[in-house]
Amino acid sequence: MAKLSAHAHRKDEHVFLAEKFYTPTITNDFDQVRLLHQSLPEIALSEIDLTTTLAGQPVAVPFYINAMTGGSPCTQQLNQQLATIAANLAIPMATGSQSVALKEPELAASFKIVRDVNPKGVILANLGADATLAQAEQAVAMLHANALQVHLNTPQEVVMPEGEQRFYWLANLSQLVTKLSVPVIVKEVGFGMSQTTLAQLSQAGSQYVDLGGRGGTNFVQIENARRPQRDLAYLAGWGQSTVESLLESRAYQQQLTIYASGGVRQPLDIVKALALGAKSVGVAGTILHHLQKNGLDATQAWLAEWLTQLKLIFALLGCRNVSELPQKAQLIFSPELVNYAAQRQI
Ligand code: FNR
Repeated sequence: MAKLSAHAHRKDEHVFLAEKFYTPTITNDFDQVRLLHQSLPEIALSEIDLTTTLAGQPVAVPFYINAMTGGSPCTQQLNQQLATIAANLAIPMATGSQSVALKEPELAASFKIVRDVNPKGVILANLGADATLAQAEQAVAMLHANALQVHLNTPQEVVMPEGEQRFYWLANLSQLVTKLSVPVIVKEVGFGMSQTTLAQLSQAGSQYVDLGGRGGTNFVQIENARRPQRDLAYLAGWGQSTVESLLESRAYQQQLTIYASGGVRQPLDIVKALALGAKSVGVAGTILHHLQKNGLDATQAWLAEWLTQLKLIFALLGCRNVSELPQKAQLIFSPELVNYAAQRQI
């Protein structure tokens, strides 16, 4: 096999390190939120409708496979498997950043496969915030994508040995979100968002935002492991959790369409994020781990169970659909979250 380029090698390293640091029993801020039980929900499972929208597209389920892979032979196989599951279960799916395929066109096949095996599905392209409008159109065309995710990842760049050192992104983002031929979702990669960021994005013309909070895959940990000195581990707690980010987003949920991701381990986390105002929820590390450990068939069966389990939890709450959740589900926050909300006055 031909030697991998540095870009392609980095893609494999991310998958390897995400798996190395994956913690099946991780606790995170979703555990700091409880849903109030109601003994008389007055509902039948058959009445529950899991549909929602993602970047303006109607979708069958309220979660999506978030951006991870592509850019090397190993990640091409993972993309193929993820896309097969996405097609069979009608789950929307994003690919990992395609910037590598814009630099080395022979790597485009590892992304295109996602559309080849899922011709009718909702697919999100992915690039960084410094991509030009022309590059963004190229990435979308590569996948016949329904929308583009643009990732914000300053802590990752800072810790990455070969990372960016200039972070003037806002003017370019404004171009992308207002001029691209498909909708744009601006996403974080596990460090969450603040009210200030949401105000900036809204001002720049953004409509769709994935808060991408702390609590799951940790790109400070991953990039620090790629540094020869491994000297930035102390930044691993950086950022707002997904729940904190959802609280930050409350004042913006009318003007922006909010998606949540980061640290989703099970259907209950999805329901909590929806109850906090997300319109759909992204899942990355949990699915990648299950796929690598248990293979395609078992992962598809496990995610099919998620759809059943989501309905069970909706029923417990007496909610017929995604939009009823924030209205009907009553939440109880831990003292830590109450303290966060009080300090932030949100
Ligand atoms: C990612 N993530 C990511 N995000 C992005 O926008 N572009 C990318 O290329 C990648 N690459 C990538 C590789 C691997 C191996 C993982 C596990 C993740 C970030 C991902 O989409 C998500 O924002 C974070 O992983 C947090 O979600 P989870 O993993 O806690 O569910």
